[in-house]
Amino acid sequence: MNFYERWILPWLLDLTMRNKECRRYRQRVIPEATGRVLEIGIGSGLNLPFYGAGVEHLFALEPSPQLQRMARRRTKGTRFTIEFLDRSAEEIPLERGSVDTVVTTWTLCTIPDAIRALEEMKRVLKPAGTLLFVEHGLAPDPGVRAWQHRLNPLWNRIGGGCNLNRKIDDLIAKSGFRLADLETEYAKGPKPMSFIYCGRARPA
Ligand SMILES: C[S@@+](CC[C@H](N)C(=O)[O-])C[C@H]1O[C@@H](n2cnc3c(N)ncnc32)[C@H](O)[C@@H]1O
Repeated sequence: MNFYERWILPWLLDLTMRNKECRRYRQRVIPEATGRVLEIGIGSGLNLPFYGAGVEHLFALEPSPQLQRMARRRTKGTRFTIEFLDRSAEEIPLERGSVDTVVTTWTLCTIPDAIRALEEMKRVLKPAGTLLFVEHGLAPDPGVRAWQHRLNPLWNRIGGGCNLNRKIDDLIAKSGFRLADLETEYAKGPKPMSFIYCGRARPA
């Protein structure tokens, strides 16, 4: 990990992910989480204020020690217990069928092997469990897509491995989930970075 990834990127991610538009999606999706919840790539903990009374325990998986430290500072006052998992989503250290809800917000763009990570999410979910997601990815418009493909190599380098051109609904469906609800739209902001996939999926 170089100087930029260790010291600049975590601070930059926290700053950019704190915007009003992201908050609007967090407000919409996170209160649906219930029971034993696993959040993938919790980052600096920006979803924490939106978890509702139905959450019993939160497993907060985050491989970056810097982001994990920021998230720990945001845990004060939460009404549920939190356990940090210092691991990657491709190898979730939890038992099969042990969680009720998996939450992923703006992580499937970055996780190197997103399919393997989603298969792991499916493995740890109970058969009647729910995957809640808010992600950005490949846009439907050819002009925007062309820019997403063109910008991706540079964006990937400055964004700590983030990809603009992943088709999130296909990744979820290919990993053994059934999409129960999917909304797609452009959020405010530059179109190549802001095509949102937001919804719910269940183990197929
Ligand atoms: C753009 S940030 C989003 C953070 C947070 N989910 C949010 O909504 O603010 C991407 C997150 O994915 C995490 N990440 C990257 N690779 C990962 C992996 N292999 N497993 C789990 N999380 C990963 C990063 O550490 C970072 O926290």
